[in-house]
Amino acid sequence: MAVDLLLGLQWGDEGKGKIVDVLTKNYDIIARFQGGPNAGHTLEFDGIKHVLHTIPSGIFHKNAINIVGNGVVIDPVIFKKELEALQRFNIDIKSKLLISRKAHLILPTHRLLDAASEASKGKAKIGSTLKGIGPTYMDKTGRNGMRIGDLELDDWKEKYRSLANKHEAMIDYYNVDVQYDLAELEKDFFKSIASLKELTFIDSEEYLYQAQKKGKKILAEGAQGSLLDIDFGTYPYVTSSNTTAAGACTGLGVAPNQIGEVKGIFKAYATRVGSGPFPTELFDEDGETMGRVGNEFGATTGRARRCGWLDLVALKYAVQINGVTELMMMKADVLSGFEKLKICTAYNYKGEKITHLPYNIEAENVTPVYTEMDGWEEDLTQMGSTEEFPDSLQAYIDFLEKELEVPIKIVSVGPDRMQTIHR
Ligand code: GDP
Ligand code: IMO
Ligand code: MG
Repeated sequence: MAVDLLLGLQWGDEGKGKIVDVLTKNYDIIARFQGGPNAGHTLEFDGIKHVLHTIPSGIFHKNAINIVGNGVVIDPVIFKKELEALQRFNIDIKSKLLISRKAHLILPTHRLLDAASEASKGKAKIGSTLKGIGPTYMDKTGRNGMRIGDLELDDWKEKYRSLANKHEAMIDYYNVDVQYDLAELEKDFFKSIASLKELTFIDSEEYLYQAQKKGKKILAEGAQGSLLDIDFGTYPYVTSSNTTAAGACTGLGVAPNQIGEVKGIFKAYATRVGSGPFPTELFDEDGETMGRVGNEFGATTGRARRCGWLDLVALKYAVQINGVTELMMMKADVLSGFEKLKICTAYNYKGEKITHLPYNIEAENVTPVYTEMDGWEEDLTQMGSTEEFPDSLQAYIDFLEKELEVPIKIVSVGPDRMQTIHR
């Protein structure tokens, strides 16, 4: 049985949480493969809105096992809060949520290092969520990290102490103003580790291998988006993991030839939170309207998201890098009421018209070339099938499918689980 993937194709916040929740009824296992609590995945059903950071978005379904894979970085403090928020839902966490022993731990000093690094960069800061993601992956690739499995060994506290001491020296080195009380942070950290240790730790690559052999259906859940990928994103304004399809192989231990459908998810427009280039960004009333109607505020940090028109050059690149087999278009409802819609189909790049993503997409190098389409007035949020779609929305979808050469299988018309139209 192949493993299907669900990935964000833009700069994150495409609506991955909602779609994983919608699709979970068709799967036995949902497995997160990278990122950490920098993610904020929102789900809405029965009038309740829920934001998950580390826990996979299939957790509300009784039929599915949820796995936090080896590629994920876990902050025990945030994890504990996530679990507390789930308490009222009566989920059997011990058997429904399994954690890879090979996942890395975010220490309090990783968060401080993130803050120190950002402060030292001044105007060139990444706009990190400050959850310690970069420093934790640095320790992972530097072969100094602490893993979930270490918590089962007797000497984990010594390992912790030696790593934290090193981090303190590094924080001093940055020579910036980062105030902290480590003793206080550690109190919280050790308490959270104790609750983490009550959960089930597994060798997730083996678990997934056996599950596959038994014919279990597995969906891998990505975090962030392709343009934030450490290799293929808008470096250095990216996150510290591979958010693209290949990341699911390394982040779960699934062989490339076991990957089935690659479900790519995008907003009908574009957003970005944090710093970095964004060629189609709007600074006018249209951008302001998208932000307001789309309620574009970060699910993790509350920061306002930058908004702009859909960028097909970037989207095609993401489809290509990931080998996307099915598309899902989110937040179509947010575009209701625009007289004209623009889609970026090429860039003017150093005096030349190009349709691929160049090395450098900073505003001084790239000007978007737009195709204009008619908008629609109709409110989409109560629509239940594609037959009800206004002609101009249908034309927008047809245009994208033709350009991207991949079918759009889902159109989302609101945040609720029910506001999902299958095609
Ligand atoms: P994720 O990180 O990809 O899971 O996305 P986020 O949860 O960070 O951001 C998506 C936001 O859009 C959340 O507030 C969702 O509730 C909301 N949302 C998802 N799909 C739709 C949609 O079709 N229409 C509208 N209006 N909101 C949506
Ligand atoms: P989900 O899974 C949107 C952005 C940050 C920053 C950059 C690096 O909800 O789509 P980091 O904290 O990783 O050091 O930040 O990446 N970023 C996200 N933007 N959605 C996310 O996750 C993000 N996770 C990180 O804003 O620009
Ligand atoms: Mg998000």
